[in-house]
Amino acid sequence: MKINTAEFIISNSEVAKCPQDFLPEYAFIGRSNVGKSSLINMLTNHKNLAKTSGRPGKTQLINHFKINNNWFLVDLPGYGYAKVSKKTKSVFQQFITDYFETREQLVCAFVLIDIRHEAQNIDIEFMSYMGESEIPFCIIFTKADKISKTKVDSHIAAYKKQMFANNWEEMPHYFVTSATESIGKDDVLNYIDEVNQEVFKNSNKF
Ligand code: GTP
Ligand code: MG
Repeated sequence: MKINTAEFIISNSEVAKCPQDFLPEYAFIGRSNVGKSSLINMLTNHKNLAKTSGRPGKTQLINHFKINNNWFLVDLPGYGYAKVSKKTKSVFQQFITDYFETREQLVCAFVLIDIRHEAQNIDIEFMSYMGESEIPFCIIFTKADKISKTKVDSHIAAYKKQMFANNWEEMPHYFVTSATESIGKDDVLNYIDEVNQEVFKNSNKF
């Protein structure tokens, strides 16, 4: 899929204030600093559409970007950032869970995982929550440029093992990406394109 237009629409902390347009929506979620905003910029060919930072906790709101006037990308705050106060953290979590539980336009979430690290409890817990809530999601491994191709393969194999050890029956659909090297761009965009075609054809929601 070719991205012709990518427009920032609105940032907010209330799901009720998210855009009312009934368009298929894809959310990017994962630990702070995993590369959610960078990936959105890579996918949309923009350097600064979504704000990025070397320090965790940059994205603090729900950010909607309208793509090709036809669907939304949503940049979300990271979870698991220890340095925000407990109160701020629970507010984050509350509006993130509100978003996932009430946003009818959401057709798929991408859970981002840093390919360099072993499976972390917080990610496994988050994916379990998505599974229990019946929210479709895929995994996107990020920062693949930071390790060799051989390591990419062995890290994914290890990740699968850890998922099975945590009672997952099958590995969710996954992608390997790098925002700096544009790795995985076509794979993710083509997947979104396929899902869009499917929902426009088969869902009476859109
Ligand atoms: P929060 O909004 O704080 O939750 O972070 P985020 O998940 O949006 O991460 P962000 O895109 O801001 O990136 C965090 C840091 O990782 C920045 O310094 C990015 O430059 C770096 N980064 C993101 N993606 C990649 C990548 O694919 N490769 C490399 N080498 N660095 C990356
Ligand atoms: Mg961010």
